[in-house]
Amino acid sequence: MQKIIIGIIGSGAMGAGIAQVVATAGHAVHLLDQNAAALAKAQTSIAASLRKLAEKGKLTTEAAEAAIKRLHPTANMADFADCGLVIEAIVEDLAVKQQVFKQVEGIVAADCVLASNTSSLSITSIAAACQRPERFIGIHFFNPAPLMQLVEVIPAVQTRAGLAEEAKALVATWGKRPVLTQDTPGFIVNRVARPFYGEAIRIMEEGIADLATIDWALTELGGFRMGPFALMDFIGHDVNYRVTESVFTAFFYDPRYRPSFSQRRLFEAGYYGRKAGRGFYDYTTGAGQPVPNRDPALGQRIVQRVLAMLINEAAEALHLRVASAEDLELAMTTGVNYPKGLLAWADELGPAQVLATLDGLYHDYHEDRYRASVLLRRLATSNQHFLS
Ligand code: NAI
Repeated sequence: MQKIIIGIIGSGAMGAGIAQVVATAGHAVHLLDQNAAALAKAQTSIAASLRKLAEKGKLTTEAAEAAIKRLHPTANMADFADCGLVIEAIVEDLAVKQQVFKQVEGIVAADCVLASNTSSLSITSIAAACQRPERFIGIHFFNPAPLMQLVEVIPAVQTRAGLAEEAKALVATWGKRPVLTQDTPGFIVNRVARPFYGEAIRIMEEGIADLATIDWALTELGGFRMGPFALMDFIGHDVNYRVTESVFTAFFYDPRYRPSFSQRRLFEAGYYGRKAGRGFYDYTTGAGQPVPNRDPALGQRIVQRVLAMLINEAAEALHLRVASAEDLELAMTTGVNYPKGLLAWADELGPAQVLATLDGLYHDYHEDRYRASVLLRRLATSNQHFLS
């Protein structure tokens, strides 16, 4: 079967990665960027990355060279006329994205599917600028796109029936694991993962433990790949703080997602983390690193608290039908590499125990931030589990 031709707008970190994925999967790709230098850089880096995969034996040399040939960088959107799908991965700005899709609609055929890779804007709000919003959908990759398995598929309010399933099927042919999610802030991963950062910062701000101890507890005792402070420094506070703030705003200021002053100040200072040489940790050469307090009882308390908050987010997302239980589990294990799905983890600990931790926090703080999801409470009080 003839593969559709795919247009990609934006050849930055995400656009280049997505172009590599779909070219490898056999699609001819038009890759467009308004910045000629960015486009040239993307072309070189995609070719280098495909050849490296061939060297490592992950791809045959013929397959790598064929994928490179399928990639057509362009500065002219008129080249998109033969596309069956256009994926946008440009600057995270609603007005700019809307403008670009207006332009795209003037070029592509009426049945060409339009998709955005936005992390934080509503898919519905971008679709609203289109003449045919029923062919619009969110296809959200994770960075780096060639390596990360997860892709969130997000129908807008206007999206025609059936398109989400078609998009999922197409994404699966690219070797990815698609999940279906509602068009709510942060979709699945950027919503459910928020307490991993926010609650860890809160624990530090209150002086319950320092950042090295919290990172130690969540990696060594919790089994997470990276501690929250090391991870935030790795992602960069310019990115991570902005996502936190945008999710908080988009949730109509729900206190559960409130950003912290500690991270806001790092953001303001330009202490973005690893890439800036300074974030929560100091990465300059010779800087001493804080030593964790490896007290197992303290560590377990921290893990229990952060985990209860994460499970509560997953429970609430399930309760509000943001995604199915299966997709929630897949999203957190493949999108952020959690050691277990949060619902399975809740079942293992027992929903009653998770609820007791949350109710304990709520009792102590009297803050809405610690309100337990009604689904968690129902399961806990009726002795049921999430997944069985
Ligand atoms: P980036 O800054 O690396 O690349 C954006 C590219 O778009 C630049 O090369 C820029 O020249 C180009 N561009 C900007 N406006 C344009 C326009 N009007 N027409 C054509 N090209 C234009 O950004 P990045 O990180 O690749 O993000 C792109 C999108 O993907 C954003 O919506 C972001 O929220 C989303 N995203 C980012 C992730 C990440 O970890 N970086 C993860 C998942 C989604």
